[in-house]
Amino acid sequence: MTTTGNYIAAIDQGTTSSRCIIFGADGRIVSVDQQEHSQIFPQPGWVEHDGAEIWTRVQSVIHGALDKAGLTKADIRAIGITNQRETTLLWDRHTGEPVHNALVWQDTRTEALCRELGRNVGQDRFRRETGLPLASYFAGPKIRWLLDNVQGLRERAEAGDILFGTMDTWVIWNLTGGPDGGVHVTDVTNASRTMLMNLHTLEWDEKIAESMGVPLTVLPEIRSSAEVYGHAVGELAGVPVASALGDQQAALFGQTCFSEGEAKSTYGTGTFLLLNTGERVVNSYHGLLTTVGYRIGKERPVYALEGSIAVTGSLVQWLRDQLGIISTAAEIETLASTVEDNGGAYIVPAFSGLFAPYWRSDARGVIAGLTRYVTKGHLARAVLEATAWQTREVVDAMQKDSGVELTALKVDGGMTSNNLLMQNIADVLDAPVERPYVAETTALGAAYAAGLAVGFWPDVETLRANWHRAAEWTPRMDQETRDREYRNWLKAVERTMGWVD
Ligand code: G3P
Repeated sequence: MTTTGNYIAAIDQGTTSSRCIIFGADGRIVSVDQQEHSQIFPQPGWVEHDGAEIWTRVQSVIHGALDKAGLTKADIRAIGITNQRETTLLWDRHTGEPVHNALVWQDTRTEALCRELGRNVGQDRFRRETGLPLASYFAGPKIRWLLDNVQGLRERAEAGDILFGTMDTWVIWNLTGGPDGGVHVTDVTNASRTMLMNLHTLEWDEKIAESMGVPLTVLPEIRSSAEVYGHAVGELAGVPVASALGDQQAALFGQTCFSEGEAKSTYGTGTFLLLNTGERVVNSYHGLLTTVGYRIGKERPVYALEGSIAVTGSLVQWLRDQLGIISTAAEIETLASTVEDNGGAYIVPAFSGLFAPYWRSDARGVIAGLTRYVTKGHLARAVLEATAWQTREVVDAMQKDSGVELTALKVDGGMTSNNLLMQNIADVLDAPVERPYVAETTALGAAYAAGLAVGFWPDVETLRANWHRAAEWTPRMDQETRDREYRNWLKAVERTMGWVD
């Protein structure tokens, strides 16, 4: 077993790509390798990933990151895993072959099933135990859909031949040997997104699993977010696999939001704002999720309130790939800067229904306020504003649920390189927005957790000292404009609802 390395490798298996980032003891990046994988859209509202392709990409980026840094497995002290959450894969435990493409978190095919499950008791049927409303977003109903729709699968699952995993579980199982002794585990943060784990006991809830039609035989063992689950085989043979956190919880960790009341917002494919609520399980009455923030080894778990926004960066991708209005994601800022304002247009990207604070699977996107005056510059601006207004709605809900007034927002993720957007967010929140020096906080969080687990870093205070502010945006918008624009946004949101029968 390797215990001498000076670096930590973090694997970030995200919605659009997989990355391996190698960090030094000061939390700075030594090397990065990244590869995209296919987005499969078999029908409107359905989104799939190929599990085998993802595992190939992960292996390749591990190799790429080591190669770029000129390092070998002897230099790596531990591996941390972070991942797109909820995306659901079932595979054969004997062959390691997926039985179907993974159903991605954005996929809405379980909408009718969720409605059916909530028919008599409503959307909050499992909220007390799981912290989640019944919505197509979560993994439990996706497992059920696969078991119901892949021929013969339920029988194989009940016979113990099939394993379920979100991407943390899939990567760890393969990394530690796959069919030859791979460990079948998940961590508390990922398990808290299945709708099958009881938030208070941190164990699978047998009653919920039964009413959802999910046999316990497919479920992985639930472990903490920072401990050694097993050791890698392959290129990193012998290196401890020592952390797993869902990507949003990892970003909370990487932003060093270790105290109650600290919050971060990550701008990726979607946007996810998490507020640390300490050891308290805070129930939401304003459309947020209650989730596990992290758990270090045997310490008490830390909980969080989460505002999940399904579509932000993916709206920019849609403009690029489906409409061809821009040719690179970065161009959105240039195009939006050609105009002074949105020209009266608002885009509500309810592509996967609306997540927080509405949880309306029946919503679909709209462009409202169109006149002949509107140009593609105005649409580009409306795309960026959609992210800002959705952030505002989640922040409002968070203040109502927690009573905590936001004094500043720590941000990270790909979209934070867009200055116009970051300024717009500060404007609509009427609060400063801050970005740390290391913007790759998701991977950093996984590295931090793995490093703590193997004693590479002594404690969270050491990690806090690594956080340095690199940029800040302060509000410039006057109150009248802010209020008027927000009213218009809310009118546009109204128009998305009830589109799907
Ligand atoms: O809950 C979904 C989230 O974990 C996906 O994050 O960054 O891959 O879009 P991202």
